[in-house]
Parts: sequence; C-alpha cells; structure tokens
Amino acid sequence: MTSSPTDPTRLPLLPPGFVWGASTAAYQIEGAAEEDGKGPSIWDTFVRRPGAVRDGHTGEVACDHYHRLDEDVALMRGLGLDAYRFSVSWPRVLPAGTGKVEPRGLDFYDRLVDALLDAGIQPTPTLFHWDLPQALEDEGGWLNRETAYRFAEFAAVTADRLGDRVERWITLNEPFVHMAFGYAFGVHAPGRALMLDALPVAHHQLLGHGLATAALRAAVPDARVLLANNCTPVRLRPDARSDGDAAAAAAYDTLHNRLFNDPVLTGAYPDLSAYGMTDPGWGGVVRDGDLEIVSAPLDGLGVNYYNPSWVTAPADPAAGLPFDLAEPQETYRRTAFGWPVVPEGLTELLTGLKDRYGDALPPVWITENGCSLPAGQRDPERVDYLAGHITAVADAVARGVDVRGYFTWSLLDNFEWAEGYHQRFGLVEVDFATGRRTPRTSFAWYRDLIASQRP
Ligand code: FCB
Repeated sequence: MTSSPTDPTRLPLLPPGFVWGASTAAYQIEGAAEEDGKGPSIWDTFVRRPGAVRDGHTGEVACDHYHRLDEDVALMRGLGLDAYRFSVSWPRVLPAGTGKVEPRGLDFYDRLVDALLDAGIQPTPTLFHWDLPQALEDEGGWLNRETAYRFAEFAAVTADRLGDRVERWITLNEPFVHMAFGYAFGVHAPGRALMLDALPVAHHQLLGHGLATAALRAAVPDARVLLANNCTPVRLRPDARSDGDAAAAAAYDTLHNRLFNDPVLTGAYPDLSAYGMTDPGWGGVVRDGDLEIVSAPLDGLGVNYYNPSWVTAPADPAAGLPFDLAEPQETYRRTAFGWPVVPEGLTELLTGLKDRYGDALPPVWITENGCSLPAGQRDPERVDYLAGHITAVADAVARGVDVRGYFTWSLLDNFEWAEGYHQRFGLVEVDFATGRRTPRTSFAWYRDLIASQRP
C-alpha cells in the first residue's frame, strides 16, 4: 500500500496538455480470429499447443471487441479519455504478412478511428503487439531479417488508410519481452526456446522499427512516431553487494533496457560481452547502415512499467546467463500476478532514463501501467495502484523529466497471454461467458481523476 492520497482531486496536477489514456492490444481483446479474411497469427497457432496457455484458453473470442467496438468506445467516452492505444492486427490487414491486402481488416480500424474521433479521443495505434502473421513465422519470424522489411510494408499500408486521421503512432510493443518470452524462453508465441541465440530478434525488430518509422513519415507528413519499450529499474538486493552482483545487475540492465533504448536513442548497441557477443556486427546480423535507420529521431519514447527487477550474480554461471533474477527482501504488496507494487520505481526509472540519455531522451509517454487483481467490481487496490503510479509520474516531472501522457493497462479485462483469462487488468470487468462489461470502482476513479486534471 502506498501512502499516496487516492482522492483524485488531491493528486498532483500534471502539466497542461498532458494526455490521459488507456491501452489494449488486438489479440488480447478482438476475438473474431478467423473473420473477414484475417490470416492466422503466431498466437492463433501457439494457443493450440498443449500446455502453452493456462487452462487451454485462447483469444478466439476474447472480449469480442471486433463486434462490440461501439460499446467499447462508449465506455472510453464515459471515462473522458484523451487518447486510446490499441494495436492493429497485422494478419487482419495482410493475411499472409505481405502482398495481398484485406480491405475488410482495414475497414475495421477505419471504423474504430472514426468512432474514436467522434468521441473526441485521439487514436494511438501500435503496429506490432506480438501477433505476427503465421506465414512470416514460417519463414523464420523475427529471426529473419526480411521480416523487418515486411513490417515496413505493413506500416505503409496501414498509414495509407488511417494516416489522414491518425497522428500518433507506436511501432513496436516491448521488443524485449517479445524476444525473451517468445524466442529465448518459449513461454509466448512463437514458443521458441533459443536462449541467447534469440538475440538477432532484437536487432531485426529494431530495424523494423526504423524502417516503419520512415514509412510512416513518408505516408503521414505530420506523423509522431513512438516506440513502446518495457523498462525496469534494476536493483540489487541489500544482501547482495559483491562485485559479481553489481556485474549481474549491469548485465541485466543491458539486456532488458539498454539493448532496446541505446541503439534507438544513441545509435549504438551497448557492450554485449557479458553475453559472449564481442563482434560489433553480431556475426553479420547488424549490417552497415542499419544503426542509422534504427536511430531515426523519435517523437517520443513509450515506457511500459510494471515493477523493478532484483538481480544477483548467477548461482550457476555455467547455466548460460550472467545474472539470476531474485525476489526482493523488502515486503511489498503484490498484484494477483505476484508482481510487487513499487510506484516509486517508476520515478526511479524515469529520472534514470533522463540521467542516462540527457538531451537524447525525447518526451516520454507511459504507454502501459496497471495491475492484475482478483475478479470483482470493487477494486480499491487498483485505485491505490493508479494513484501511486500517477503520483510517481508527477514526481518525475517535478524532477525535470518531460512526460507527456499516461496510458493505463488496461481498459478491459482481456486475454493475458500465457495466463489466459486468469489475470484481470481492466478498469472494466468482462464476463467472458457473455461478453458483458461492468465498469469497476477504478473506472469511476480514473474518470474523476481525468476530469480533475483538466483546467
Ligand atoms: C505487457 C504487455 C501487455 C500486457 C501487460 C500486462 O508486457 O505489453 O500486452 O500483457 O504486460
């Protein structure tokens, strides 16, 4: 429990023009997995793998948002959102990942954008939130450099259709998590357990980000382009202060944070020698000219924050990774996921980014932050979580970090990847048997907070 007051009118005021939003992602809410010509994605495939998702849940129906778009936009209007972050399903638009465009897929996002604009809400699409077309996975997925070029093609097609009405774009969601969970550990789609051989997936995603940025700017002259990275402040346990522990913390920070922020913001990869990578070209993966593409100036850095990470030296250095993830010694409140609730970690993260990148840090947007709690409509713990984290953002702003917006995860309970429907992150409860939506206590609180932040 934080000591922050939860009365929305007592929270610090964020600067004028600060954007209040909520986030979702296509596979987690849309359903309609095979409708209107949509091609299969790696998640459609992965959920069928026995044991891959808790209780065999799938996103086939999810929140059925595809058929309930108007109802969901009405909920957003009720919240008074300034902006809504959603993702565009690549296989809905390009069923085979490249080539033939499915106009009915684009029509859906076209309707969504219009409905949002009618409600006074800025559409903020993410182009890749993990649902790669299966046809591209069959060609190697993000291990294949070509996928970066196909991603730029998808960006161009989507911007061509929506760019007359959409200004703010996010290229990738959490390339670290997609690489680590999808390709290194195999607990997310595409379910490959390559450990450190997954590294090329980092570069190919970032190359895709850079190429898509150029495509977006070519199609939409006033496009504002962001990348949404999952970032974590890395902490040592108080009982772990050896040189080995400090080296482990630095190595983890490199993998989780710097590998995805440095090349974009500074045009260079961090030293990866802790991972056995001493060749600056990563054995032919990083080619001449790539880093110029990757480091095209960003209009904003999206930051997804859930909790800090605690690290120690590896108990078994031969096991392959130069760190062990550890549990904190302090007692924190935990979300239903078991994640520690540490709002001040967000201030630490934001001021740390500013310290590290200085003037190279563009305006920051919190593109995800929220918590999973047990089912039920009364969720004072979520109110407390949000109040604490929004206060933490205000603290970072007071210390000179330029933060422009805050998007909570999530508008709706949804398909939480390998956890299926077991983790509920929504301001709105969803009954997955009927699709019924019921706003929670936190919904009214967030609505009041947004209203009280307006001049
Ligand atoms: C993030 C994902 C998002 C959601 C939250 C809880 O890593 O981007 O889709 O699953 O975690």
